[in-house]
Amino acid sequence: MTRRCVCPGSYDPITLGHSDIIGRAAAMYDEVIVAVLYNPAKEGVFTIDERLKFITQGIDEAGLTNVRAEAFANRLLVDVCKDVEADVVVKGLRGGTDFAYELPMALMNRHLTGLETVFLPGAPRYEHISSSLVKEVVRFGGDISGLVRDHVRDALVERLGPKA
Ligand code: PNS
Repeated sequence: MTRRCVCPGSYDPITLGHSDIIGRAAAMYDEVIVAVLYNPAKEGVFTIDERLKFITQGIDEAGLTNVRAEAFANRLLVDVCKDVEADVVVKGLRGGTDFAYELPMALMNRHLTGLETVFLPGAPRYEHISSSLVKEVVRFGGDISGLVRDHVRDALVERLGPKA
């Protein structure tokens, strides 16, 4: 039986913290689906195609042959997992705040369909990274090198950085 998991998120954009969790999930499961969950009514910084492209570039660069990315609009995570035939969600935890946010969702998903969530401790060097903080730093001209891949950094600076 193929052991398949889902790494869900908004990925607007993918950070090195996300990539670390995806890589570790790829070592634990036969197949990993990176699921970009979104609401078409809400505009992000990057389009869904751009987010998928950044994720796929990261997967290719890391040589992860058992990982693929897919987008899902207005769907419950439990339904996405049913569609792709995954019975586990893998998520990274950066600390207590993440746990407080993630636990009710994990319990709700388990209540709905029995879907289990596996939490991986975030690598300490990525603990301060989130998509929202990275975007805020860029907006005010800060350097986000080493927090996202270079091509994602350049795209963020282009889109959000202060204009000279
Ligand atoms: O990257 P994010 O914003 O932390 O991702 C959160 C996400 C998209 C994984 C979460 O909001 C989610 O699972 N949304 C899907 C809708 C859903 O199933 N909601 C009920 C969960 S209890």
